[in-house]
Amino acid sequence: MTVITCIEDLRRLHQARVPRMFYDYADSGSWTEGTYRANESDFQRIKLRQRVAVNLENRSIKGSMIGNEVAMPVALAPTGLTGMQHADGEILAARAAEQFGVPFTLSTMSICSIEDVKAHTTKPFWFQLYVMRDREFIEGLIDRAKAAGCGALVLTLDLQILGQRHKDLKNGLSAPPKLTLANILNMMTKPRWCMGMLGTSRRQFGNIVGHVKGVADMSSLSAWTADQFDPRLNWGDVEWIKKRWGGKLILKGIQDVEDARLALNTGADALIVSNHGGRQLDGALSSIASLPAIVAEIGNRMEVHMDGGIRSGQDVLKAVALGAKGTYIGRSFLYGLGAMGEEGVTKALQIIARELDLTMAFCGKRDLREVDSSILVPGTH
Ligand code: GLV
Repeated sequence: MTVITCIEDLRRLHQARVPRMFYDYADSGSWTEGTYRANESDFQRIKLRQRVAVNLENRSIKGSMIGNEVAMPVALAPTGLTGMQHADGEILAARAAEQFGVPFTLSTMSICSIEDVKAHTTKPFWFQLYVMRDREFIEGLIDRAKAAGCGALVLTLDLQILGQRHKDLKNGLSAPPKLTLANILNMMTKPRWCMGMLGTSRRQFGNIVGHVKGVADMSSLSAWTADQFDPRLNWGDVEWIKKRWGGKLILKGIQDVEDARLALNTGADALIVSNHGGRQLDGALSSIASLPAIVAEIGNRMEVHMDGGIRSGQDVLKAVALGAKGTYIGRSFLYGLGAMGEEGVTKALQIIARELDLTMAFCGKRDLREVDSSILVPGTH
């Protein structure tokens, strides 16, 4: 097998090993995918200042996110259907994250349930919440996350309605997969994935099926989301969710300075500058381009995190330089998971950590906590 040295290697392997409908689900954006691409390409435009003859011994890339020490300020983002990229995917990713010393965020739309992930891990993970019409169900989810000892609630604000991803509609995305002839033929070319799936009973949305009245399976993700997700979600809801939860709260999906101000008013612990990986409003600014104005607005009054487009340690360094106290990787860890399960997620984290450490050093810094925008070439950010 070829030696894996970068996230792109893992992406290729993921694409080769996982059925098309799930690979496509992970690796696509909405409509023209312009924002999805900009999330990555805007990182490339930012240039780093090379510094030399600086003592580079004893370096540290450690950080903290909402009061938790982290091996590096890179959490695993909440991603839907993770257990369809690899059998028991959420459990494997959560284990890799806890071993590495970074937070894992479990999505509401996960395959493995909150209780299941709790039973197979030893440290608190974070839970991401989508708000649905059935408020009793939401209250139940919040209570379940509390009972599992989750360390933070990550409330997603940018998906009251689902953006259109062409490939999902064309592939008839669902969990478990719809057994059309095209899907069966495609799955037959992925024996490793099939073996894994045959060996697990986790093939449904574990947090939802059996918990929402009248939902036995999910024939179509887009139709189900349209039915269940609450399009009326507003800032008033953030208040009752915060009260019911009572723990650390992170608001995800902020792109606009005005919304950042409103997020600050809620008294949450952090906000995540995010456009949902370019999967919602196509035509929005990239996350890294949105970050500086929001950091300028918020200052030190609340932690500002970001996600979107991170495929390397260089990207993490640039986000930190522009004021992100924490970052999240979604696709970068999914590529690892789809490629090689738990080992692949660990590999993705190792790759990013090594790139982050070396890049920081080339910029003449020994401690990530000392990094600021002075490491960037003026005029490129
Ligand atoms: C939902 O989390 C999605 O982006 O598909």
